[in-house]
Amino acid sequence: MNRPLLHPLFLTFSCLFFLASSSSSSGYGPGDTSKPVRREVYGNGRIFDITHRYTPEIPVYGSKLGIGHFRWLQLSMKNGSLTNNSEFKLPVHTGTHVDAPGHVFDDYYDAGFDVDQLDLEVLNGPALVVDVPRDSNLTAEVMESLNIPKGTRRVLFRTLNTDRGLMHKKEFDSSFVGFTEDGAKWVVKNTDIKLVGTDYFSIATYDEAIPAHIAFLKRREIIPVEGLKLDGIKPGNYSVHCLPLRLLGAEGAPTRCILIK
Ligand SMILES: *[C@@H]1O[C@H](CO)[C@@H](O)[C@H](O)[C@H]1NC(C)=O
Ligand SMILES: *[C@@H]1O[C@H](CO)[C@@H](O)[C@H](O)[C@H]1NC(C)=O
Ligand SMILES: *[C@@H]1O[C@H](CO)[C@@H](O)[C@H](O)[C@H]1NC(C)=O
Ligand SMILES: *[C@@H]1O[C@H](CO)[C@@H](O)[C@H](O)[C@H]1NC(C)=O
Repeated sequence: MNRPLLHPLFLTFSCLFFLASSSSSSGYGPGDTSKPVRREVYGNGRIFDITHRYTPEIPVYGSKLGIGHFRWLQLSMKNGSLTNNSEFKLPVHTGTHVDAPGHVFDDYYDAGFDVDQLDLEVLNGPALVVDVPRDSNLTAEVMESLNIPKGTRRVLFRTLNTDRGLMHKKEFDSSFVGFTEDGAKWVVKNTDIKLVGTDYFSIATYDEAIPAHIAFLKRREIIPVEGLKLDGIKPGNYSVHCLPLRLLGAEGAPTRCILIK
């Protein structure tokens, strides 16, 4: 049975819509032709959305075509339904997303180390955004040169990927910057970093994708956050907030991430 009017999400939505519209002075209602404002920054320049918008053009690993058609109206008001109800279908590792240990360890996958058990304390708290040298992948040498202070637990690495706008191109580009195996091992061994964020949808380079993921996920302590939108974000200290979808059993999940200055 599908009674959209009684659906809790729908009720929440209508309340939010009511609150939003009642606070604006001009004409909400039939015939209102205003368009929503889409923003990347909120709260007078204090809150940054570092999540990529899901569109058909968002890139997919190894593909030239982007994700393509991923959302459709299952019920439509134009066709006489009381509400518009969309459905969507997405690979879990698209756009801004997290990886769980089960992504590269089959025994962890079977044991249930999925996105639902990831630690929200790791995913939310003080974070450092660092600009890395543009002429290299994230190697041990580069990691050492960054001099990230001991005790730093969350780091978002802003790389050449952001300059090249790679997440805004639908064709997958295997020359993206990421961690090499020795870079990942260096981080695990020498730092307190538990959240590792990068700006293309793999933290590891194309050539060392598997060994670098293995290095990060082996001890089940580090959470990779991939495909972050760091355009226009200045290096420095922030508070990061990432809330992945609770997809039981899944080794990856789309996540909304924001930075607060
Ligand atoms: C409305 O229904 C028609 C006929 O079933 C279908 O072809 C069309 O795609 C539907 N439109 C929407 C917006 O759902
Ligand atoms: C409802 O769906 C129709 C398509 O049937 C679309 O044109 C319209 O914008 C939708 N309305 C809302 C409020 O999303
Ligand atoms: C990073 O590694 C990839 C191979 O995985 C390579 O194509 C790319 O050129 C490297 N980037 C830099 C900046 O060295
Ligand atoms: C970030 O904060 C730490 C600790 O408060 C401070 O030592 C460091 O200089 C700050 N880094 C930047 C880039 O502002």
